[in-house]
Amino acid sequence: MDEKKIISRREAIKVSFAGLAATFVGAGLLTGCGSDGRGRKPRVIAINGSPRKDMNTATLIDQALKGAREAGAEVERVDLYDIKFKGCVSCLNCKLKKARTYGLCAYRDDLRPILQRCREADVIIFGSPIYYGNVNGTMRSFLERLMFPLDSYAIDKQTGERARYLDGTVPVGFIYTMNCPEQMRERAMGPMFRSIEGYVSRIFGSCETLYSTNTYQYKDYSLYDVNMMREEDKRAWRDSQFPKDKQLAFDMGSRLVGQIVIQG
Ligand SMILES: Cc1cc2nc3c(=O)[nH]c(=O)nc-3n(C[C@H](O)[C@H](O)[C@H](O)COP(=O)(O)O)c2cc1C
Repeated sequence: MDEKKIISRREAIKVSFAGLAATFVGAGLLTGCGSDGRGRKPRVIAINGSPRKDMNTATLIDQALKGAREAGAEVERVDLYDIKFKGCVSCLNCKLKKARTYGLCAYRDDLRPILQRCREADVIIFGSPIYYGNVNGTMRSFLERLMFPLDSYAIDKQTGERARYLDGTVPVGFIYTMNCPEQMRERAMGPMFRSIEGYVSRIFGSCETLYSTNTYQYKDYSLYDVNMMREEDKRAWRDSQFPKDKQLAFDMGSRLVGQIVIQG
């Protein structure tokens, strides 16, 4: 691939933030724990794909952010259901050679600033409930918009591999929550998880995953028409396993921030 076409994270920020102060410092430049040596803390952005702001996915995201904050980061949670946006409209302006929008999503809607903040972030955490065997439609639409401009259809002539637009590694964590029991997870959705992990890793250079299964879906099971599962079983799992998932999320958040330091 042509050298000039490889967009460094800092370039990407400069291109799209031309009018604003170019304050971005890429993950690879962070040198001190929780700081870039110029007083800036690492930035962690978490994208909550659940419409429910205080349920399973959001709870685990908040734990991950707590871990990240305690590791010295500045954190932000974005609730996707608050934002009016579409999935990729296939305008292909992000692939147009010499265009100002090369490598950037050109579609103008309320997602734009969020995409920008993701590109400035040193760590990205995604969280989605599973709907019909996949991340939900809202998270899917978000991923299309974030990833396609950063994905490449070019082969790097030197390595013979798919070229990468980003020049560093962005530590990424993906949190999935789902109703299905742990023993069914891999059988039912393994290939889907591997596929997302593959795309995310190809673009950002990393992807670690946390699965929270058998989640407590209803606030009060007795009010709903649900006899496939027993509320007592769900409650028992929620009380015994969910706290462990919260701890895993917390650890993930702090580990991801730690990875920025290692790269420095
Ligand atoms: C429309 C819909 C489809 C769902 N499909 C699945 C599914 O295919 N597999 C599964 O394990 N759970 C499924 N669930 C359950 C949710 O993934 C699970 O309750 C999740 O933890 C909800 O996240 P939240 O509490 O953050 O909203 C579905 C829930 C909804 C509302």
